[in-house]
Amino acid sequence: LLGRSSLELCYIFAATMQKIFVRTASGNYSVIYGRGALRRAGAMAERLADSAGPLVLSSPRVWKLWGGSLTARFPGWNPDSNWDRRILFDDRESSKRLATVEGICRQLARAGADRRTVLVALGGGVVGDVAGFVAATYLRGVRVVHVPTTLVAQVDSAIGGKTGVNLPEGKNLVGAFYQPCQVIVDPEVLRTLPARQFRAGLYEVIKYAVIGDAALFEFLERRLGNVLRRDPATLDYIVPRCIRAKAAVVRQDEREGGVRQILNFGHTFGHALESATRYRCFLHGEAVAWGMMGATLLAVAAGRLDFEDAVRILHLAARVGPLPPVDGVRGDRIVEIIRGDKKSREGHAQWVLPRKIGVVERGIEVPDAVVRKAFVELPRLFAAARGRS
Ligand SMILES: NC(=O)c1ccc[n+]([C@@H]2O[C@H](COP(=O)([O-])OP(=O)(O)OC[C@H]3O[C@@H](n4cnc5c(N)ncnc54)[C@H](O)[C@@H]3O)[C@@H](O)[C@H]2O)c1
Ligand SMILES: [Zn+2]
Repeated sequence: LLGRSSLELCYIFAATMQKIFVRTASGNYSVIYGRGALRRAGAMAERLADSAGPLVLSSPRVWKLWGGSLTARFPGWNPDSNWDRRILFDDRESSKRLATVEGICRQLARAGADRRTVLVALGGGVVGDVAGFVAATYLRGVRVVHVPTTLVAQVDSAIGGKTGVNLPEGKNLVGAFYQPCQVIVDPEVLRTLPARQFRAGLYEVIKYAVIGDAALFEFLERRLGNVLRRDPATLDYIVPRCIRAKAAVVRQDEREGGVRQILNFGHTFGHALESATRYRCFLHGEAVAWGMMGATLLAVAAGRLDFEDAVRILHLAARVGPLPPVDGVRGDRIVEIIRGDKKSREGHAQWVLPRKIGVVERGIEVPDAVVRKAFVELPRLFAAARGRS
């Protein structure tokens, strides 16, 4: 960049930063996407905040990696004396619970956070879900800026306003719809993400492609190698595309009364798998990968999807990489969990099934026997698809 005028630099900056608007009944906000966005986050949050400045919520690991970049340009931020302006908490799934929320709220109270405070959530989906719920409830609501640092959080959890924590009785059982006032997505932070976590996010990207974006699906088929290498230009194509897709769905249906249900493609099987294995075997995206393949089989069995498209979906998911096996999980157990799922109606799951690549149908009921059979067939088909890749 040396030798360029500041005007030229502005053009380059403008070309790389994108602003995506999310409009919902409970509020509008923008998602800023671009390399270097992290460093601008402080100034953005400061504009929203009172003179006390923003308060950062993060995990020790993410803070260590990216806290310095985030706060480098926070006006008046002093790394030595501002320790009480950041609250760090464990971001393991097992910490996504009410006790963590209480701990954070107490720290906020001690730090003197008031209604004008802006929370900045720096981290993956766990940090975002917890921080979002804290923001929704502390003093009956304070503003929150999401700065997602995993691929799952960037393309999915940071957008749309679902916040919450788990109970021993089940996942995400306590929560609130609460929209952030700003989302800042910097793909640079994905550099430090472990490969398995990155792949887990990629399955959610495939989900967007199957439910509504055939061109993205073809792109992934052609450029999967670049995606897995986290090639910057490739990420600049796929991440904002997914954010736009999510924004479009949330705009039509903030509270999942209708069309937002299509985002659950792969999640009926996926959640059942996570639950059957007590959230210990699969990353969320990995369970969704099995779930998308399972739903694809159901769609073929129901005569709703061409065999050719089904093979493409299975093959793309298989090419992403290995998955923890499902062989140890009984089909009966999966069917039982799905029947009791909070999204089932009177014991009948409302499946989201592909019609063709880029188009899904929702609210479809499938007999238990077919679900069981599809689940049992999955490992063999996945192995065959892996063999082809
Ligand atoms: N609210 C929603 O709409 C929504 C949508 C999808 C998922 N979720 C929730 O999100 C959670 C999963 O989130 P996730 O997949 O982002 O994983 P995560 O938040 O569990 O993070 C995974 C791991 O990556 C680490 N990490 C985060 N960013 C990093 C970075 N840039 N470099 C290195 N390490 C980094 C974290 O410390 C953690 O160890 C689940 O609880 C799920 O229920 C919510
Ligand atoms: Zn998901």
